[in-house]
Amino acid sequence: MNSIGKAIRISDKVWWVGAVDWTVRDFHGYQTSRGTTYNAYLIMADKITLVDTVKAPFRDELLSRISSVVKPEDIDYIISNHSEMDHSGCLPEIIDIIKPEKVFASVMGQKALESHFRIGSNITPVKTGDSISLGNMNISFIETKMLHWPDSMVSYLKEEQILFSQDGFGMHLAVNRLFDDENNWEIMEEEAEKYFGNILMPYSNLILKLLDSLKELNLPIKLVAPDHGPVWRSHFAKIAGLYGKWAEHKPVPRAIVVYDTMWNSTAMMAKTIGEGLRESGVEFKLLPMNVSHRSDVATEVLRSNAIIVGSPTINNNIFPTMADVLTYVKGLSPTNMIGASFGSYGWSGEAVKLLNEYLKSMNVEMVSEGYRAKYVPTEADLKACFELGKLVGEKLLAKSKQ
Ligand code: FEO
Repeated sequence: MNSIGKAIRISDKVWWVGAVDWTVRDFHGYQTSRGTTYNAYLIMADKITLVDTVKAPFRDELLSRISSVVKPEDIDYIISNHSEMDHSGCLPEIIDIIKPEKVFASVMGQKALESHFRIGSNITPVKTGDSISLGNMNISFIETKMLHWPDSMVSYLKEEQILFSQDGFGMHLAVNRLFDDENNWEIMEEEAEKYFGNILMPYSNLILKLLDSLKELNLPIKLVAPDHGPVWRSHFAKIAGLYGKWAEHKPVPRAIVVYDTMWNSTAMMAKTIGEGLRESGVEFKLLPMNVSHRSDVATEVLRSNAIIVGSPTINNNIFPTMADVLTYVKGLSPTNMIGASFGSYGWSGEAVKLLNEYLKSMNVEMVSEGYRAKYVPTEADLKACFELGKLVGEKLLAKSKQ
């Protein structure tokens, strides 16, 4: 094994032993422009414990960092908080190398690890409220089902007051300084928001419940150690507050216009709708899909409460980029959205009807049945687009004042 890197101490008895992925740019369809980290943690208790592992190709980096503190074979326990393969990918190999006394996961985690790697019989299941002794320390578990997989759980190390929060409060950001207060807040907020928008938005209600549970439990927390990005040492209250805000998604006066175009007609309509939004007084952003990524649209949806979508009709259908982004955003189940649609057409003109169907299936409150322009918009068409933007903006303003 090559010596790729050393562990970083995060508290008296706990070390970060994860991997930094500077190159990943596509994380199952989510554009990770700033790379990511796969965090794993080593607890140097009487029973030496590894919390989570890393993505399979980073196995040697994990072993190298562990080896800078202790011989990997000396590890007694492994805790798998989440079975998605960016955290469990090298778990079977690590089990083979380390031969730990026990591997802990939630009940659903045991099933998921069996389905992924056929290692279910090696796993000791734990559930909410269970606590295990590491000799001189204790670690307890809270299942966080569907945050964001059925197997997800978090672990709390009482003596060091560390919450190992797996994907929760994480972000895709490759860092060379591990703590939140050693990194730029604006970049961390942007990436945490993108992470929430793309991964956690569908489970917003569960996030609110988890935040309430954490409040009720009133655990003393010095560090929150997620599976991606920086460890929260100074700004956890701030990020927890933002999680509450993002999960509630209360109406704010901000709209997005998401569209693609063939010969600039739908683009002309989009720009004019933007002018109508401006006239109404709401903030807005145009997102042309020839230069926008679906995962950035997800972030913009989280920041907005109106979505106006536009597509030309092509072969009796909508533009493929629009089908892509709408399928993606629909899966994220945004709440509290109003919307409308528009598009140019030559003869059959189905796009607006199809866009409306998408929006309705997303429970978007429709402000109008949309607007179509034949071939190239006339002055009257553009006036109608302006009015459509203004109408959506006015409705949104009224909603955000309620
Ligand atoms: Fe970072 Fe859900 O895996």
